[in-house]
Amino acid sequence: MILNLDDFRTQARRALPGFAFSYVDGGADDERTLAHNRTVFERWQFVPPVLKDCSQRDLSVVLGRETLCAPLLIAPTGYNGMLRYQADLMLARAARRAGISLIQSTVSTASLEEVAADGQGHHWFQLYVLKDRRVTIDLLTRARAAGCTTLVVSVDAVHFGNRERDKRHYRRPMKLSLRSLLDVARRPGWVWRTLKPQGMPGFGNLKPYLPPQYQRGVGGAAYFAEQMDTTLNWETLGWLRQQWQGDLLIKGIMTVGDARQAMTLGADGVVLSNHGGRQLDGSISPMLVLSDIRHALGEQAIILIDSGFRRGTDVVKALALGANAVLLGRPLLYAVAAAGEAGAHQALSILYAEIDRTLAQLGCSCINELGPHLLRENLPTLR
Ligand SMILES: Cc1cc2nc3c(=O)[nH]c(=O)nc-3n(C[C@H](O)[C@H](O)[C@H](O)COP(=O)(O)O)c2cc1C
Repeated sequence: MILNLDDFRTQARRALPGFAFSYVDGGADDERTLAHNRTVFERWQFVPPVLKDCSQRDLSVVLGRETLCAPLLIAPTGYNGMLRYQADLMLARAARRAGISLIQSTVSTASLEEVAADGQGHHWFQLYVLKDRRVTIDLLTRARAAGCTTLVVSVDAVHFGNRERDKRHYRRPMKLSLRSLLDVARRPGWVWRTLKPQGMPGFGNLKPYLPPQYQRGVGGAAYFAEQMDTTLNWETLGWLRQQWQGDLLIKGIMTVGDARQAMTLGADGVVLSNHGGRQLDGSISPMLVLSDIRHALGEQAIILIDSGFRRGTDVVKALALGANAVLLGRPLLYAVAAAGEAGAHQALSILYAEIDRTLAQLGCSCINELGPHLLRENLPTLR
């Protein structure tokens, strides 16, 4: 039975071969940050006022030039075709139906053009800056042509995290171990749904730039990792600001200083994120830097947040501390792996209902009424 987002995780574990589940579910090193991203929410408890009429509720939020029906966005995630054929399109459709944004990854399986051709919605593009500036410029031109309104530049994965859970499935880079291959053989449903239509998924956006031997499969991922611009710095960000006229957000910001610097260079906002615990293990949860960054940037800056959000109450805590909206990564991937587009739609509906119920129980009619006065912070006691 599916009652909450974690139920989709249980179903995805059954539906996916181990290597694909680990790709989504795993974190870096000892997965301490991955675990911390969930436990951190216990730090705040609600202090609910009563006897306020909030029978009519509105969950919409304004982000820059756009109004979303709920304070949610689908986070950029690469290589979703490994979960199910056309997973990116399923996510895009679920986002459109919910009236929220899909942030399409540079390394998505579907191309920008395929997502745009499928229908009009809040379509944003996430950029990884590659060494070859001509590729970056071309990607931005294509994103504009595809109708993407907002550019999200990810800056926290320039040096890839060490994802050991993922690596254990391979006997050598790109070659699955015998055990993992047998595990694939035990999942004919996944083979049918995912590989039968078109074989190994590729990288839709990068196709024009990839050598033929890297067009499909994990080889493309390895090639892409080599192409990442490891010299990325604030100057590059200034250059990107000149290239992109729409709203610009920087994803992976975790310090007040960096958030200020991003705004000084002309960004419209930031996405506070530790990449869902997939990059620097031991790094702090973005929930713990949110208040300070909101205080430093003021009311006008767009502040989005992700990493570990699984419940409506988690989302409401972030909104009360100053976030404008929350990105969801893994939960939507589990849902699409388990039940396709219907699963993604159900996951968003569950979360919407949870946020709505939390708002009602806090006596709020709209997102703007949320604030830190509704929370009490329990600071851990030192022993
Ligand atoms: C399988 C997977 C692939 C991801 N790929 C990308 C990506 O291509 N670009 C990016 O900026 N972030 C990527 N992320 C990070 C997400 O955008 C997001 O920050 C993270 O998933 C949020 O944490 P959560 O999964 O706990 O919700 C990926 C995350 C996962 C789980």
